[in-house]
Amino acid sequence: MEALGSMIGTSLPSHTKFISMSPNCLTIRLASRDVLSHCKVPYRRQVLTKTFSGSEVVLQKARSKTWGFECRCSAQEMESYVATDNTSRSLTQRKRLAVFVSGGGSNFKAIHEAAKEGLVHGDIMVLVTDKPGCGGAEYARENQIPVIVFPRSMSSPDAVSAAELVATLRNFEVDFLLLAGFLKLIPIELVQAFPRSILNIHPSLLPAFGGKGFYGLKVHKAVIGSGARYSGPTVHFVDERYDTGRIVAQRVVPVLADDTAEQLAARVLHQEHQLYVEVVSALCEDRIVWREDGVPLICSRENPNKLY
Ligand code: GRF
Repeated sequence: MEALGSMIGTSLPSHTKFISMSPNCLTIRLASRDVLSHCKVPYRRQVLTKTFSGSEVVLQKARSKTWGFECRCSAQEMESYVATDNTSRSLTQRKRLAVFVSGGGSNFKAIHEAAKEGLVHGDIMVLVTDKPGCGGAEYARENQIPVIVFPRSMSSPDAVSAAELVATLRNFEVDFLLLAGFLKLIPIELVQAFPRSILNIHPSLLPAFGGKGFYGLKVHKAVIGSGARYSGPTVHFVDERYDTGRIVAQRVVPVLADDTAEQLAARVLHQEHQLYVEVVSALCEDRIVWREDGVPLICSRENPNKLY
């Protein structure tokens, strides 16, 4: 702890004093008479709680090696700091992913390939589907990825319930859930159990052409029929409704004068595979940060000061 203390101390300003750090907690205290007027941790999604006690701030997180935070003391400018916890292996740990599909699973395959090639610092631990015979489920079985059927229904009595799915994903120690053409609504239990940890990809520029009923070719037919000249995929975090969670990334493709829905779908899907891999890669490297108004931004790997 001594060595850690001095290491942390060098990256902290003179008016702060390192107190302790563990894989889950960083505590700093301000020098006497300084009053902490502001402290925020905008750079890492894993911050769970932030508590103030006098001039001491405790930042609690899960699984992150690097802390980014800002502090302001009375009469001082806001300053940004980074503290690195060398005792935690979290950044070297590959993230554990669950993918949800209902169809062919080309996005699932793109992410799986990217993980195998090292472009995504994570591994697909489990596939969740409502259609056990779909192309995505077949691909999972061919690649020794366990398949879970969800939700339970009259036609799928052996499938798992929402509560069982949460428990199963916990057993797999899943960090992130990736929806890739999963047509069922994600139940609130899951949204609450994995806050800021569920992504979806949608084949239009949300918030346009999204919501219940906007899936597959219906989306592209609606785009063409509207006269919109541009379309493209959106990756967004998932809330308890269809397609309304915060947008994290988009790509634009042209809508051509003589486009069929199939042609537009193919053009958009080509971009989906690249965009989803890019976002999942950022997610697995803890490079998604949350702006104060709740909008997620990606932190560039090459230039950590660049957010987009
Ligand atoms: C994609 O167009 C995606 O945007 C939407 O469902 C489709 C899934 O395609 N959510 P695939 O199964 O990944 O090929």
